[in-house]
Amino acid sequence: MITGALSKIPGLVENLDAGASVLELASGAGHGLAKLAAQYPEVALTGLDGDAYSITLAKGTVADAGHSDRVSFVQSTLEEFTETEKYDLIFINISWHEARDIDLATKNVRNALKPGGYFVISDFPFPAEKEGLRTIPARVMSGIQYFEAKIDDQLVSTETFVLMLEDYGFEEVDLFIISPVHNVIYGQK
Ligand SMILES: C[S@@+](CC[C@H](N)C(=O)[O-])C[C@H]1O[C@@H](n2cnc3c(N)ncnc32)[C@H](O)[C@@H]1O
Repeated sequence: MITGALSKIPGLVENLDAGASVLELASGAGHGLAKLAAQYPEVALTGLDGDAYSITLAKGTVADAGHSDRVSFVQSTLEEFTETEKYDLIFINISWHEARDIDLATKNVRNALKPGGYFVISDFPFPAEKEGLRTIPARVMSGIQYFEAKIDDQLVSTETFVLMLEDYGFEEVDLFIISPVHNVIYGQK
């Protein structure tokens, strides 16, 4: 889960402890929001998801965990949200590959971050070269890729995410591996 991984990113924990403004994109059923709220009692959180039912589930998850006072919600697609210079941290867990227009979504993230704010992606690492498809984790990725093709998106390589952040002007871009099927890529505005 990405909440534990955030402590590996230089300077980020200090921000969270001090009461950062945080947006989780594609927040799904809200478990990431609830965990982060519990771990960092000073943060103010927003969950964004394009799906109304997911927002309903997430509100329930956050309420059951007793954090409703610090978590708000926005129903929007990744491509349509238009907030500006509001967040110290924007993160997304295993869903960035679901953006139907990843360039537009990246511009929206950049606009929504305060100067110096962090963008953190955790996602499935699809191999950059076809030779990489021979490993067992990559075979798992190939199965997921088949499913993604059916819903009009696709897994991309970690290298692609790094280049994308650099192309959009993010600084201090770096990555680390959480597991053979889960990488984290991050940068600062
Ligand atoms: C695989 S779930 C992951 C949920 C959550 N991040 C987690 O780790 O449990 C993907 C979520 O992304 C949302 N989603 C997919 N494409 C989206 C888009 N283009 N804009 C906004 N939300 C999107 C879905 O509604 C769903 O809640």
